[in-house]
Amino acid sequence: MNSPQRIVVLISGRGSNLLALLEAQLRRDWGRAYIASVISNRPDAAGLEAAARAGVRTEVLDHRAFASRADFDAQLLAAVESHQPDLVVLAGFMRVLGPEFVQAFAGRLINIHPSILPAFAGLHTHRRALAAGVKWHGATVHYVTPDLDQGPIVVQAAVPVRADDTEAALSARVLAAEHHILPMAVAWHLDGQLELRDGVVRHRAGLPQQYCIAEPSAAS
Ligand code: GRF
Repeated sequence: MNSPQRIVVLISGRGSNLLALLEAQLRRDWGRAYIASVISNRPDAAGLEAAARAGVRTEVLDHRAFASRADFDAQLLAAVESHQPDLVVLAGFMRVLGPEFVQAFAGRLINIHPSILPAFAGLHTHRRALAAGVKWHGATVHYVTPDLDQGPIVVQAAVPVRADDTEAALSARVLAAEHHILPMAVAWHLDGQLELRDGVVRHRAGLPQQYCIAEPSAAS
């Protein structure tokens, strides 16, 4: 029997997306594949506790302990590669990774971003979406390339923006959508369902790669 596929998850904080992945693993959404390690660049990341409680190995590589960005990247690359991962997931990992790291895991490195890319790449997406007055916001899972938040899109979710939304309310709505699409993207990748051609990702079996998470309106 083939050895089970391995996932490495990189986090920096709260870890709610990691929790969604741990739950999917419990449900056996991806068969025998398993999270081999959760690596955080911050020792105080709450997600580390969630991983440990689930019996998953955790590692901390505090970026502040490294003399340069390149040193940190090189150490992180070695730590991740030691697990020979089939997939590396950036789940709220708040460090920009250099081209060597990205190249080493090309085609097996995904990120969850809280916007419908290419809109609102970068930080503070919910605040910027509200300021722009967009009526839909959401989340994207994409393969990572050296260009920040610009890699080939695997799956997107859209949520409505309400007239009276606050940054916190909108961010909670988007986060729920993130928890929906991230485990789905992981399952598709591990199952060999994703085909990347000319910078575009297609699902081989033709499953929809977009989700519209509409809430019942008060008028209906
Ligand atoms: C999420 O909104 C994710 O899209 C972004 O950072 C946040 C991490 O949240 N990259 P959590 O740590 O998974 O709760």
